[in-house]
Amino acid sequence: MDSAKRDEHHSELLQSQAHIWSHIFKFIDSMSLLCAVQFGLPDIIHSHGKPMTLSQISASISVLHPSKVHCLSRLMRILVHSGFFERRKLGQSNHEEGFVLTNASQLLLKNNPFSVTPFLLFILDPILTQPWEYLSAWFQNDDTTPFKTAHGRMVFEYARHEPRLNNFLNEAMASDARLIADVLINDCKGVFQGLTSLVDVGGGTGTIAKAIAVAFPNVDCTVFDLPHVVANLQDCKNLKYVGGDMFQAVPPAHAILLKWILHDWNDEECVKILEKCKEAIDGREGGKLIIIDMVMGNKELYDKESIETQLQFDMLMMVLSTGQERKEKEWAKIIFAAGFTDYKIIPMFGLRSLIEVYP
Ligand SMILES: C[S@@+](CC[C@H](N)C(=O)[O-])C[C@H]1O[C@@H](n2cnc3c(N)ncnc32)[C@H](O)[C@@H]1O
Repeated sequence: MDSAKRDEHHSELLQSQAHIWSHIFKFIDSMSLLCAVQFGLPDIIHSHGKPMTLSQISASISVLHPSKVHCLSRLMRILVHSGFFERRKLGQSNHEEGFVLTNASQLLLKNNPFSVTPFLLFILDPILTQPWEYLSAWFQNDDTTPFKTAHGRMVFEYARHEPRLNNFLNEAMASDARLIADVLINDCKGVFQGLTSLVDVGGGTGTIAKAIAVAFPNVDCTVFDLPHVVANLQDCKNLKYVGGDMFQAVPPAHAILLKWILHDWNDEECVKILEKCKEAIDGREGGKLIIIDMVMGNKELYDKESIETQLQFDMLMMVLSTGQERKEKEWAKIIFAAGFTDYKIIPMFGLRSLIEVYP
């Protein structure tokens, strides 16, 4: 090999090594962010009201051991790099720097109604991270999910017996539902026009149905979920809670909402759920199903981060549930298999879409 070829070869080798390293270390991004959230760093910096120096931040973390103060700058440095904080000069003549929040860390504030913090704490809880250690074992056994290999039962079954997971799951879903409800009610009013009743199937503790019930007082709303999820939740005005199993029957309604439900289940299970939904809306003029979920390969999403996040969600579904994220063709297959006649995809919610499905 001549020396120019050898240089090129070495440069390719080193680039490949760096590529592998960056993938080996991806968990460091998650764990650094988790640590920042556990310390409440976004809230600490937000309450300060102006750029906050490292010494001010370290003085505000009451649990920080004195010997670790100097390590905080390294945590802040990687979080600046990944877009969660920004550095700002404190004054024109002052060389000292302070940290401020970015749009992303604003979304981690505890009191932000759209806070993603409950979702982060759920996904990065050891109950949910442990199953990843069983991924290769699961590929070799006949368990339905790596979660089952790790914990001996499926997620919703585990949540029924373990109140901590049940609360984490419900809180995580509710935090996402607050943002989606806001977009739905403000930007998708037309979806609810002319409806008289709606059932949110697998609607959790009712965040979306509550918002719809308030915004559309003429629509009778029902939250339908497993009995342990809706137990002790209070009906009010045009909103009620019903416990049950969507594989057995779904309460009848003019429209059915399925948000983040079908990606939890395989095609066969989805067709069963969809058939129950179809029975629930059959014979009602203008009846429809409203699905909120991802459509993979959506032409509107072509940036690397969005595609990567959709692929990550698909893996997450494989590890936690029997489900998957679906391409349009895969959606069409289960929709038509359940006897529906048509559908329309409206990309509305960032990585997710609204799919209207007609009987
Ligand atoms: C991923 S969460 C989605 C919650 C909510 N739709 C949202 O997006 O905020 C799935 C929901 O389905 C519910 N679920 C699971 N199995 C169910 C069943 N057989 N019948 C009714 N609900 C079920 C769970 O309890 C959970 O609330």
